[in-house]
Amino acid sequence: MMENFDRNISYNDLPLLPPKKLLETTKVLRKTIVASRALAHLNGMLTNLPNPTLFLDTIHLLEAKASSEIENIITTNDDLYKSLVADKRFDSSATKEVLSYKEALWNGLHEIEVRPFISTNLCIDIVQNIKKNTAGIRTTPGTALKNAKGKTIYTPPAGEAVIREKLANLETFINENNTIDPLIKMALMHYQFEAIHPFSDGNGRTGRILLLLYLKLENLLDTPAIYLSEYIIKSKADYYNKLREVTENNNWESWILYMLEMVEFTANKGLKRLKEVTELMEHMATEIKEKLPKVYTKELVEILFRLPYTKRQFLIDEKLGTPKTVGNYLKDLENAGFLTSEKVGKEKLYLNYRLMAILDQS
Ligand SMILES: Nc1ncnc2c1ncn2[C@@H]1O[C@H](COP(=O)(O)OP(=O)(O)O)[C@@H](O)[C@H]1O
Ligand SMILES: [Mg+2]
Repeated sequence: MMENFDRNISYNDLPLLPPKKLLETTKVLRKTIVASRALAHLNGMLTNLPNPTLFLDTIHLLEAKASSEIENIITTNDDLYKSLVADKRFDSSATKEVLSYKEALWNGLHEIEVRPFISTNLCIDIVQNIKKNTAGIRTTPGTALKNAKGKTIYTPPAGEAVIREKLANLETFINENNTIDPLIKMALMHYQFEAIHPFSDGNGRTGRILLLLYLKLENLLDTPAIYLSEYIIKSKADYYNKLREVTENNNWESWILYMLEMVEFTANKGLKRLKEVTELMEHMATEIKEKLPKVYTKELVEILFRLPYTKRQFLIDEKLGTPKTVGNYLKDLENAGFLTSEKVGKEKLYLNYRLMAILDQS
């Protein structure tokens, strides 16, 4: 047990980064190599795509959904994809929160392009975007992490000055040049951010958005298309336990290995999914060309793969024809079995159900 830690008392003694302990053990270094290699493969595949950002929306929606689900904000894939595409606003509060998460991620990615570093203000921006409010750093005590039985497992530091000081240290650690491998740094950063727990809510989600921003900042992924929460949602108990283990037993190794496994697993899984989707896309392109030569264009096929649902307006926006013409394209695609349609409010949405089937696999 760490000397000054009591789960019921604000942990103002949370040690600053970097940890004094040697982190780069043989086990950690071996795993770092494997995880980096997996990530590099994914990056290579993404870079070689004719249109690397094509699937970004879909991947970020998956990420937003799982990261929110870790916090028990639950929505279905179908609802989510539909509400993103439809004019009609019929979404549940959970779906709305997931869509806000996605926006927060996009804004964050945009923000680091303008100002390429992770700062306290960026974190505040992100949490405000997720929560759609103006809450900032916690100023009053009372925030504690409880388990399902209501028992307190962790009480983060209290007092705005203390929190800001810890965040300033974190900010320096992230942005300064040091010799720690970026993937190991990412693990340290995530623990530290969660342990500081600067906000009264939204800490888990903000911390997970920072992971993607960091991969982009470090040029480990040129296109930030990785679905990291896919691993966390499958191993949530481990995620929680390993965070605790750092606090209670200074067990960094097990935490770092967990985070490296997350990178390796999701990079490999992402690569596999990306291959399936691109193969389906090529296959459908060939089939459409054959069966509906007048309808086929490369641009049209891309629209069908941007998100699982499509509508007439998307084709109009891409200048594929008059409303009447593109309406007929979609009807033809449906009649030929490529899409299925559904009326939502006043409009018709068209589902690329084969794409959806790949995304629904877990
Ligand atoms: N023992 C712990 N120490 C520090 N952070 C933890 C611990 N257990 C869980 N967490 C983090 O706290 C997050 C939940 O905090 P919360 O502010 O409610 O986030 P959100 O609103 O996004 O749900 C978890 O997702 C996890 O990242
Ligand atoms: Mg919460």
